[in-house]
Amino acid sequence: MSTDLILAATAVRAKAYAPYSNFHVGAALRTPSGAIFVGCNVENVAYPEGTCAEAGAIAAMCAAGEYTIVEVAVVAGGNRPVPPCGGCRQKLSEFATGDIAVTMVTADGAQETMGVADLLPGAFDLEHLNAGATTLDN
Ligand code: THU
Repeated sequence: MSTDLILAATAVRAKAYAPYSNFHVGAALRTPSGAIFVGCNVENVAYPEGTCAEAGAIAAMCAAGEYTIVEVAVVAGGNRPVPPCGGCRQKLSEFATGDIAVTMVTADGAQETMGVADLLPGAFDLEHLNAGATTLDN
């Protein structure tokens, strides 16, 4: 993991809007072009409307017209590296192959790296969708 991605995630974490959880998260994604896209968590008084840092970074990537992730960094507080939530594992799987590294970093520097496939074994994918598509007209 190159430090530029971790630095980008660390910087955007400072922009997190997390008045309800006080849990500030920054995420950074690299694409094949070398570009880095960042996102932070954005909470809402209607709790389920909040969005994760990873989702913000993915939205920024798509808004720039890029749709492939080659590396991910997530930075959060606490003394254990924080993994993406279940929903974000699926969101990452949409744009990253199973071998892509997700490096989780604490604010004081502890690191752990896992592959996308390790984070979401048995992911629901396009093959499942195509194999199961039916016309419910029977
Ligand atoms: N959160 C993220 O942004 N990314 C993660 O990987 C884990 C959780 C956010 C969602 C919510 O704003 C706060 O952390 C507490 O769950």
